[in-house]
Amino acid sequence: MSAVPAVVATAAELHALTTDERRAVVMTMGALHDGHAALLRAARDHVGPAGQVVLTVFVNPLQFGAGEDLDRYPRTLEADLLIAGREGADVVFAPSTEEVYPSGEPQVRLSAGPMGRVLEGEHRPGHFDGVLTVVAKLLHLTAPGAAFFGEKDAQQLALVRRMVRDLNFPVEIVGVPTVREADGLALSSRNRYLSGSERSTALALSRALAAGREAAGRGAGPSAVLHAARTVLDGAADSGLAVDYAALVDPRSFLGVDDHFTGEAVLALAARVGTTRLIDNARLRFG
Ligand code: PAJ
Repeated sequence: MSAVPAVVATAAELHALTTDERRAVVMTMGALHDGHAALLRAARDHVGPAGQVVLTVFVNPLQFGAGEDLDRYPRTLEADLLIAGREGADVVFAPSTEEVYPSGEPQVRLSAGPMGRVLEGEHRPGHFDGVLTVVAKLLHLTAPGAAFFGEKDAQQLALVRRMVRDLNFPVEIVGVPTVREADGLALSSRNRYLSGSERSTALALSRALAAGREAAGRGAGPSAVLHAARTVLDGAADSGLAVDYAALVDPRSFLGVDDHFTGEAVLALAARVGTTRLIDNARLRFG
């Protein structure tokens, strides 16, 4: 474990540092928080003290739609490097947009397919094509044995797994449980946009998940569970919560489940508080 990671901005420098060791990568857009730190720790545990942990920090323009927060997305590289060092990352790859997209917008890119067009994909058209294109590029650039992604972005994690399977990427994808504040709010780089009162309103997401989990625990079926979650979200409408979607979906397709469904489903929520968009989810078992 090195206290000070090597920080590189070009593919050539990165290539010179990626050795034969067991390597794991954690991909981020920076503005690191304890959720990202948990991914770095899981990556370190996976490769062991002699292995190499690579952190990538890149705000990927390709995954932001027009009118989204690309321009105001927090960029805090100095602070990120301190966290990377504390969590034992060996290499930080923080490239410029020109380094990642030397010919401007790529002509050839990945298509996430049907699972990329529902829920998040419906509200953010093209988002997952942009995510998978950069994840594929970063996998090529870092050539890891394993890559770590948060369950917080459940649809993204499912799509990355699907891409790796469909296109035979030689990498193991590892999911890491969502890290939350003590009061339940899922950590997110976007939380720093929230005012104090907006933050209280945002707690409706994790409370809605808790209500859904509680209903499922009592033996309620999918529609009753979804109703329990929606009731909590509806209660926060007056304090400014605008729901994009609340859905109970099959983790293999991200399509809605019916009341005959058995097995593990994902309760997925997205809402806006002021100008900030937040997502959260929980896995629930039926039958
Ligand atoms: P970003 O939002 O920075 O997230 C980077 C990684 O951290 C993702 O795998 C995400 O799921 C995980 N993460 C975020 N918040 C978390 C939390 N509270 N608990 C656990 N893990 C959490 O996701 C992206 O960046 C980008 O789309 C990226 C994959 C880097 C491609 O550009």
